[in-house]
Amino acid sequence: MQKKIVVLTGAGMSADSGLKTFRDAGGLWEGHDVMEVASPYGFARDPALVLDFYNQRRRQLLKVIPNAGHKMLVELERHFNVTIITQNIDDLHERAGSSHVLHLHGELLKVRSTGDETLVLDWKNDLNLGETCSKGYQLRPHIVWFGEEVPLLSEAAQITVTADILIIIGTSMQVYPAAGLLNYARQGIPIYFVDPKPSINAIDFENLTIIQSTAAKGVPTLVKDLVRKEF
Ligand code: APR
Repeated sequence: MQKKIVVLTGAGMSADSGLKTFRDAGGLWEGHDVMEVASPYGFARDPALVLDFYNQRRRQLLKVIPNAGHKMLVELERHFNVTIITQNIDDLHERAGSSHVLHLHGELLKVRSTGDETLVLDWKNDLNLGETCSKGYQLRPHIVWFGEEVPLLSEAAQITVTADILIIIGTSMQVYPAAGLLNYARQGIPIYFVDPKPSINAIDFENLTIIQSTAAKGVPTLVKDLVRKEF
């Protein structure tokens, strides 16, 4: 039976595609305080600003393409049973061709009703104030904001428990509960961490191999190595 690989990705995964990470930008996200644009408080205070912020992110996303790192994770599926748990709201893993992607923090190309969270729609255009769901409630980005529950967390934890190998790519491991997923990995399994500035204090595990590199360079090297070791 194929080994199970769980891949946990963060903003660094998409940096080589041209999408900025959060913490590399000095705590600002494209010039904004994250609480202003990524919290229920921010949305209540200035909904137009928040919608505009995500409209810009959505437009930017539609202009960029998956990088060599995203593509090599697809290659990994030819040899292993792979599930990606991403903190990213972009769709670059899917566009590259990965089959199993779980978006812990939501998806930029989806919106949902503010009155009924089960009403989720695909959305590629701008979203404006006054655009409502079929029940008449304002639509909002389908994003998990700071202070909100992470609905897919228990599913992500159940997947992480099944990993024979864990790969972590481009995340500062500072944001909980995502960072806590590591604690669900079975003791002793090999863990690989690809990041040009790895926050190793956060990941203090036995059998940890650090690949100090960008995703576009480090992931292809790692994937080739894993395939070689396995066969
Ligand atoms: N390739 C790989 N990793 C990179 C690259 C690159 N080219 N460039 C930067 N990095 C690394 C940084 O060294 C850092 O460790 O990516 C990581 C980015 O960290 P963060 O910006 O904190 O992103 P992330 O960990 O995904 O943040 C988690 O915080 O703002 C919230 O909800 C948002 O999902 C996000 C969460």
